[in-house]
Order: sequence, then C-alpha cells, then structure tokens
Amino acid sequence: MIQPLVYGLGVFAILELLYAALRRWPVRVRMLYHVWALVGGVVAALAVTVGPEAPAWKTAASIGALLTAFVLYSLLDSLVFQRPWQPALGPIMPKLARDVLRIVVLAAVAIVVATVILRQPLPAVLVSSTVVSAVVGLALQDVLKNVFTGVAIELERPFERGDWLLLDGKTVQVVDTSWRSVRLRTRDGLDLWEPNSVFATSRVVNYGSGARPVGINFEVHVTYDSPPARVKAALLAVARSVPGAERDPAPEAFVTAFGDSGVDYRLRVWTRQLAQLNRFTDAVNSRIWYELRRQGLDVPFPTRIVRWHDAAREEQRAEETHLEQATALLAHVHLFEGLAPDVVARLAAAATYQRFDDGELLVREGEHGDSLYVVEQGSVAVTKRGAEHDTRITLATLGRGGFFGEMSLLTGEPRSATVTADGGCEVMVVAGSALAPLVHADPRLAELFTRSVMARQAQTAATLEGRRERALEQVEARAEATLLQRIRSFFGVTS
Ligand code: CMP
Repeated sequence: MIQPLVYGLGVFAILELLYAALRRWPVRVRMLYHVWALVGGVVAALAVTVGPEAPAWKTAASIGALLTAFVLYSLLDSLVFQRPWQPALGPIMPKLARDVLRIVVLAAVAIVVATVILRQPLPAVLVSSTVVSAVVGLALQDVLKNVFTGVAIELERPFERGDWLLLDGKTVQVVDTSWRSVRLRTRDGLDLWEPNSVFATSRVVNYGSGARPVGINFEVHVTYDSPPARVKAALLAVARSVPGAERDPAPEAFVTAFGDSGVDYRLRVWTRQLAQLNRFTDAVNSRIWYELRRQGLDVPFPTRIVRWHDAAREEQRAEETHLEQATALLAHVHLFEGLAPDVVARLAAAATYQRFDDGELLVREGEHGDSLYVVEQGSVAVTKRGAEHDTRITLATLGRGGFFGEMSLLTGEPRSATVTADGGCEVMVVAGSALAPLVHADPRLAELFTRSVMARQAQTAATLEGRRERALEQVEARAEATLLQRIRSFFGVTS
C-alpha cells in the first residue's frame, strides 16, 4: 500500500520541483501543469498496483500521454516560440502557425497512444481517424473556411495589427488576428470579431497604421461664375492651414466635372491622422466653407423651376406671335406697301424664319434660287464678283425690312449676287411656291417686283461701271414690258 503512494507522490513531487525551477522563465502553463503532474503520479501509482496491462492504467496512461504532449508543447511555445530572450521582436512564428502545429502534434500523439498504449491496430486507427476527419471536415466546413482564409491572411499579410481598414463602408482598426477571426475595433471603441472568411469575399481598403500619409479626397461644388483659378487657390489655402495635413506630399486641387448647378472640384489632402480621421475631415470641410465665404465664392444648391403649360394653347400663341411678327416686318417692306391686307396676311402665314452667324452665306452668286428673304434682325451685305480675279464689289447693305433673292425667284435666272450675314442676323424666308398664288391674287405685285428688279439691275450696273447715266439708259433699253412679261409668265399670270 505504501509503495504505490511513494511512487505516485514521488513522481508528482519531481514534476512540481521541475515546475518550480521552470518558473524563473516566463512559462505560460499553470493549472494544466499541476493536473499533468497529478496524472503522472496516478499513472506511476497504478503501474505498481494494477500493472500496465490493466484497463485503468491504460486509460490513465493515455490521458497522461496526451497531457504530456500538451504540456511539453506549451513549454516549447513559452520558452522558444515566444522568443522570451527578445520579447520586443514578438513570437518566432505567427499565432496561426503555432495553433496548427499544436493540433498536428496532439493528433500524432493521439495516434501513438491508440496504437502503443491502447494496442489498437494502426490501419484501423488511421481509417477511423480518416473517417472522423471527413465527418468533422463536413461538419466544420465554415470553421475550415475561416482557417484556410486565416492561413492566406498570415501568408499574404494584407493588413497588420494597428492598420485602419475600410470594410463594407465601416472604418475599423485591426486589433488581433487568429485562426478563426480578426478582431477589429470601431471608431466608437467597440470590438467586433469578423470571421476570416469575410476577408476572402469582401473588398478591403487598407489605410495603413498612419506610419505613411494617405490622401483624403474632398468633393466641393462651386457656382459657374467662380473662376477655377480662384477656387483652387482657396481650397489649397485651406489644405495648408488645417492641423494634421501633410506638406509632403503637397495637397492638390482639380476641376473634375461640370455639373448641373456648378463646377465640381476635388481637393486631395494627405494626412497620418487616421485615428482622428473624422475630426480631420470635419476641420477641412468646415474651413472650406469659411474660406469660400470669405472669398465670395458660392456653393450652389440644386434648384429647379417647374412650369405647367397647355401645349395646344402655347402652340396657338406661338403661331399668333409668329404672324404678328411677320406682318409687322412686311409693313416695313416698301415693296408691299400698297398690297391688300389679306394678301400681306397670306404672305406672313407662308413665311418661316432662319438665323445665320456672322459671315455665313445666305445666297451664292450663280446658284439657282427659289426663295425670297426679308431681313428681320441684323443686316446682310450684297456683293458681286469684280472683273478682276478675287475682287468683290459691295452693292448694298440691307437692314430690317430689306429684301433680297427676288431676282432669280422672279426671272428664273441664277442668283445675281452673293448675300452674306453681316454680324448675326435673322431673316424671313418666303418660298417661291407660296408667292405664286399671291401674284395671282394681286397682279400689281408682279409690277412692283418688276420695278424693283429693274431699279436694282440699274444700280448694279452703275456700281460696276461707275457710269450711272449710261447704265440707266442700258436698263431702259431692256424693255420694262419684256421683264414684266417674263415675270408674269413665270408665275403663270396672263395679263
Ligand atoms: P437674286 O439675284 O435672286 O440673288 C442675289 C440678290 O441680291 C438679288 O436677287 C437681289 O435681291 C439682291 N441684289 C442684287 N443686286 C442688288 C443691288 N444692286 N442692291 C440691292 N440688292 C441687290
């Protein structure tokens, strides 16, 4: 009875003495070590009482062997892997690698225990361990996913402890990593454990720990009347004055787009104040507001004017305005002065309007023409090719109420001159087809046109030749009656 007690207590005492010696080093096992020493004592005591073949001893020895592996691994971890001689450098291996090693060591010891102590055949142990692994693997799919992502994180190192991450729109700081999850701390000081698998599927932005500066962008909208150079100068002044903004890299300001209600700018400021980022962005944004105000630069806010309108009425009103405008213009045309009001009204109804930029050609000399123009706004220059190459002779400048294009329209001859917009202009256009019924309705129109054409031809000849007298004689020689006849026949009017 004494002998097993001596053996048991002896083993226990030796192991405890060893522990006392080890305590000078930073060992991390305590409770577990004492349990192990106790089991060691029990195994020794059972060995001398029931013998190594007894099931009780086998059970105790198996537990003891597993505990031995556990304790030895823990001592190895404390005294070697943790690098106690140079604690500042941190562990030799990452935590995840150490955890995996521990599991492998324990699994190997378990197989040894099953075959050597419990005397189970090795193939049966391996098969059963494989089956168990498969079952466990299926059951622990999510856990394994986390473990594998954890391994990838350890190898790839996309972030370190202390780094600030943007994860699913939230800014968080990495506190710790493990084989299952990453411990993160929010700006509110709350800790959250994100499973490693989250990092395999989410897009993570790493701002770093603040050791290197990062660029923070501020989007600003300023009204269109603010010159970009002034806006950019104001934004850069803000960036230079805010505490926590880096000078190198220097801040930058860009025009990024022309928006609906103003010009879009981007100010990029570099900072290391990641822990205080909200305060930093607040300071920059607030100072932008004050600086823009001081500089008299306005930040627009979207405005929208909603007008209800009756399409049919608007169309009718536009038609009426158009007619009024055309009638008023025709009243300015001396050629139409004696015409019956209904003929003028029909002419006005047939007219359309066109706008031309400065220098644009309305009529080109020598081309076929089939419309009459009346100047509504601005003026046009009537020019003709000179005898010498590349010279142009100005025949007339026509302002509001001046008409042109009637010559070739009435006679069927090519355009006698070129008409060019002299500054921007707006003209009324009457198509030849719209003019014909009016000549039928009021035959005097043909006579009025004939006189006008003759007068212009005379003036052109006078300008070209500089001899008004002779020109007039020449024109008169071309019988007025012949021209009138031509015009009448062009419109199909029989006198
Ligand atoms: P048309 O010949 O159809 O095309 C050129 C137009 O210039 C012409 O009709 C007249 O309307 C106009 N035109 C030609 N000669 C003169 C002139 N001497 N004075 C004013 N306008 C003219």
